[in-house]
Amino acid sequence: MTTEAALTTADLRLLAEAGGAAPSLHNSQPWRFRPTADRLGLEVHADRSRAVPAADPEGRALYVSIGAALFNLRVAADRLGRDTTVRLLPAGAGAQPCAVLDLSAPARTPRPFGADLYPAIARRHSSRQPFTNRDVPERLVADLMLAARDEDVTLTLLEEHGVRRVLDLTSEAEARIAADVTREAETRRWLRLEPSYDGIPLAALGSHDRDARIPMRGFAGHPPRYATPAERFEALPQLATLTTHLDGQADWLRTGQALERVWLLATVHGLQACVLHQAVEIPDIRWRLRDPADGPAHVQLVLRVGYGPPGTASPRRPVEDVLDPSAG
Ligand SMILES: Cc1cc2nc3c(=O)[nH]c(=O)nc-3n(C[C@H](O)[C@H](O)[C@H](O)COP(=O)(O)O)c2cc1C
Repeated sequence: MTTEAALTTADLRLLAEAGGAAPSLHNSQPWRFRPTADRLGLEVHADRSRAVPAADPEGRALYVSIGAALFNLRVAADRLGRDTTVRLLPAGAGAQPCAVLDLSAPARTPRPFGADLYPAIARRHSSRQPFTNRDVPERLVADLMLAARDEDVTLTLLEEHGVRRVLDLTSEAEARIAADVTREAETRRWLRLEPSYDGIPLAALGSHDRDARIPMRGFAGHPPRYATPAERFEALPQLATLTTHLDGQADWLRTGQALERVWLLATVHGLQACVLHQAVEIPDIRWRLRDPADGPAHVQLVLRVGYGPPGTASPRRPVEDVLDPSAG
């Protein structure tokens, strides 16, 4: 059954605003949305002018970010009363579009994601502040794992030894990144640092004491605000990994969808989260992130979750910049 109702300009704007609110590496927002010729669907394109090549030479984080936008589009389509059928990489790896959403069918019951995730799209922000020591309840962890699994991605909440291993590797990665002038210059460009930050190594703006704090790279706010070195973080952060069996563009798009699905569900339940990406940006450290007990899984992302102060909204590109008014 189809609705036969073409997407209106208002529908397209609602979709693009939702897609554009997704998390992305360095808030690079590397996406473009374009209606299909019949206006019963939407294409999602990579905006390669917004790639971050020093930190992300393969484009892995770019596809993860686009995947997160794609998930928001699915949630927004449900809000519009439309079911979504997604085709990832319909023209093959490396080709555009990255995904095509067929929105021609009416929404099904039961609704696709359990909870209504739409209000959480605007409420979700990275929170890089210290969290409390309150554990995420096991029942909620199980729901987050199921949410990721629905997207063909495995979410694992790490045990204490795993958390300490990942924090050590993140600190090691952070130090290597800080010593790489090309990467540091690229990060500065994206963070649009105020002149007062010039000359200060980014690493020094984060926090490094592994006993009390987390190697945190902060990108929120305008200008960006950093967790000050004096702030104390939770005794043992709750870290989760997102892993996939394979490591191609489709897996990265799935990871992004799982990331956003988990993050929105966490937001609905009052949890805060942020990404710790440094360790997956350096191939040999990324390899060591794997828990050998998990077999040949590829770690795509490390997510810190917990209860604490919400993050603040970070800037987004205007809808006109990310939405093509008609099919190309
Ligand atoms: C692939 C990817 C990598 C990211 N890496 C980091 C990171 O290392 N540290 C961090 O604090 N935030 C990281 N983020 C979060 C972004 O900085 C954040 O989503 C962006 O600044 C927009 O802010 P928001 O999440 O509050 O909407 C990452 C996000 C994605 C999708």
